[in-house]
Amino acid sequence: EIAVGILGTGKYVPERRLTNQDLERMVETNDEWIVTRTGIRERRIAAQEQATSDLAYEASVQALKSAGISAEELDLIIVATITPDMFFPSTACLLQEKLGAKKAAAFDLSAACSGFIYGLANATGFIKMGMYRHVLVVGAECLSRITDYTDRNTSILFGDGAGAVILGEVPEGRGFKSFKLGADGSGGELLKISGGGSRLPSTEQSVSERRHYIEMNGRDVFKFAVRVMGSAAEEALASAGYEKSDIDLLVPHQANIRIIQSALERLDLSEDKAMINLDRYGNVSAASIPLALAEAVEEGRVKEGDCLVLVGFGGGLTWGASVLVW
Ligand code: ACO
Repeated sequence: EIAVGILGTGKYVPERRLTNQDLERMVETNDEWIVTRTGIRERRIAAQEQATSDLAYEASVQALKSAGISAEELDLIIVATITPDMFFPSTACLLQEKLGAKKAAAFDLSAACSGFIYGLANATGFIKMGMYRHVLVVGAECLSRITDYTDRNTSILFGDGAGAVILGEVPEGRGFKSFKLGADGSGGELLKISGGGSRLPSTEQSVSERRHYIEMNGRDVFKFAVRVMGSAAEEALASAGYEKSDIDLLVPHQANIRIIQSALERLDLSEDKAMINLDRYGNVSAASIPLALAEAVEEGRVKEGDCLVLVGFGGGLTWGASVLVW
């Protein structure tokens, strides 16, 4: 069987920062509340002319360069996002055109913040079955476009950014050892955008009722996240035949520092074993894990042979975890 792993990583964040102090001027909140409840200090916000495919493009160019392959060598592009440029064509098709990846098939994947892990599992399957050699998996979001900046419960959490990886064959013994994906549609109400789809098409009323923004039950999402981050990681470890003590680096979805801390506790890991950058970027949904991974690589925190656990949760509800030997 072919061993499949990551050949290159890339990331992109827009320049503009939205700090807690900025938010203090927009909604009834304060820096101290946001930092103690979430760990977030600032987020990046896309420029007016930027959309998700533009962020995805920058991260992808970097990933291709780091993998040492050209866009023409890509066989498939998967973009995980809840903020596509438009309903269709898919953001993956827009990206294919921007990159000039003429040979590549392309599709978007919708699994909210778990989308990147779902994408990795898809890509690994395609390569293992011998259908494709090089797959680009991107998590990219412009969450600022679906965030209600009059709602203090959600506006403090989200930001914009992108992360990308190239998947392909790696030497035996390395690469992805397991995937654990899950969903619980009964919790769909906890985190959603209800307007603009076929159930509630865009109308003047849907706009005035603010149905095109993220609606969230923060407390219940928090409880779900605490439960599932630990269990998904444990299940992925077990199915790969690894122990908690084998973990060199945890790369978690960056939603809330307290959620990450509870996962660390459950996995018997100290905080230095987790890649954390939510203080600088907030929650970037599908982009958060690849962005954290790309920064971990950049900072030299990942060495050949290291055991990484990637784990995330999100709307759907969905979750995903993977064990990866670098
Ligand atoms: N500033 C000041 N006070 C606030 C703010 C704010 N920004 N937001 C809420 N409060 C108040 C609330 O009104 C509440 O007041 P009350 O007790 O008088 O009612 C109080 O603070 C406590 O509110 P809680 O909601 O209980 O606060 P909690 O500790 O749960 O933190 C948070 C809220 C940060 C949203 C947390 O629940 C959380 O992180 N949940 C998970 C959210 C998440 O990860 N969502 C994304 C999933 S990923 C995806 O798919 C996009």
